[in-house]
Amino acid sequence: MNALHRDLKRLVSRVEQADGPAVAADLARQRFHLMPPVGWMNDPNGLCRFGEDYHVFYQYGPFDPNGGVKHWGHYRSRDLIHWEQLPVMLYPDQTFDLHGVYSGSAYIEDGTMYLYYTGNVKHPGDYDYVVTGRGHNTCLAVSRDGVTVESKQCLMENRDYPENLTCHVRDPKVWKQDGVYYMVQGARTKDDVGEVLIFASDDKLHWRVINVITTPMPFGYMWECPDLFELDGQWFLAVSPQGLAQDGLKYQNVYACGYFPLYGDFRGDCTLGEFQEFDHGFDFYAPQSFEDGARRIQLGWMGMPDADYGNPTAAHGWQHCMTVPCILTARDGKLLRYPVPELETLRGAGETFTAAPGLEKRAQTFDLCWQAPGAFSLTIRDSLKLSWADGVLTMMLEEGGAGRTVRRAAVETVDALRVLADRSSVEVFVNGGETVLSTRFYPADGCDTLRFHQGTGAAVLYPMCEK
Ligand code: FRU
Repeated sequence: MNALHRDLKRLVSRVEQADGPAVAADLARQRFHLMPPVGWMNDPNGLCRFGEDYHVFYQYGPFDPNGGVKHWGHYRSRDLIHWEQLPVMLYPDQTFDLHGVYSGSAYIEDGTMYLYYTGNVKHPGDYDYVVTGRGHNTCLAVSRDGVTVESKQCLMENRDYPENLTCHVRDPKVWKQDGVYYMVQGARTKDDVGEVLIFASDDKLHWRVINVITTPMPFGYMWECPDLFELDGQWFLAVSPQGLAQDGLKYQNVYACGYFPLYGDFRGDCTLGEFQEFDHGFDFYAPQSFEDGARRIQLGWMGMPDADYGNPTAAHGWQHCMTVPCILTARDGKLLRYPVPELETLRGAGETFTAAPGLEKRAQTFDLCWQAPGAFSLTIRDSLKLSWADGVLTMMLEEGGAGRTVRRAAVETVDALRVLADRSSVEVFVNGGETVLSTRFYPADGCDTLRFHQGTGAAVLYPMCEK
């Protein structure tokens, strides 16, 4: 442990003790979503099951609710529902990760946790930090107990990446297949084209680039947080591309987030199919998935970098949260996202009713399941209006949107609607997860009305208990 590590550790613990109570008292504090103890949260990192425990690491800026230098915060759980806050796992405490322990993944082998991440270094000087001035190091931290790190090292630096790239190469995700270790990283070329690098290694330490995957025509200038996996015999490449212009109902957010079906072999000849967005709401970015037995579970960051809307929680010392954990399944070359069944253990006694125009219910944090036939419309806590008509699902925010206005998604028919509302977020799952919309929202304190304006059908409303 070096002196910087020691001092950062003390400082994080002091700021968590000093500011934690105010954050915990904030009425917008989430009841069943992971959020930072204080300060800032972005991408989920190092998602894994290690022994009996699930681990969620995350981009954590403990000193600044608007960002700051990134650490890896840490939560652990036996059941994906009750999470224990653990001390920060990775501090920016080495010359190769001094200005941010950026995103990455966990690879588990022989009872050891290998954490691959990007060490961000910004050299002092008059640099643009895109083409010059930034070190983007591929780093490895090793832990045997899943709580403490016993070594950290830099495996690759700028000169180890292809020459046509800028200083934006990051977010390693590692797995093993056919006896070989593979890693994907997102990249931005000097011509401002987003792509994914495929690396291979025989020993987890020495890596070589074996392939570069991108679209025939440029699709944004940078691809962040890649995730490559096979599900039911179909390969998928998930990325968060930056620089896509809005195209009708596609790419309404400043940055996009979705996946390509990948045909062929990612190690050689392969092509990408049509890009699909994971989410159509305001707040979903940089998701990561991991395997848990037969399931592939994904968590996303319920936030959006550089958006023109905000989160008033920053004034209360914290910002952002994760989505609930969802299971990914493949159907006809597309991915469905649906909450893990474990979440249902947080449901209180359900109230069954038939929805009808004019009906009102009361709930702040809830799980609403509605077999909604045809056109419908409902308002949540006088802030968020959700409706479907003529093939378009609309999420509209006015009061409490903190700058969020409207998002629309093409949805042919709505058979089943599930709405998960926490204190300051709403996640909408249409037709078992075919279409999902996630957003933060900030209704007036105490407002708990759920108004049905249009549509009928059987519904069950479960209050959600605190995790
Ligand atoms: C995505 C991202 C990653 C990076 C991290 C830094 O939100 O920009 O590409 O590693 O956040 O916090």
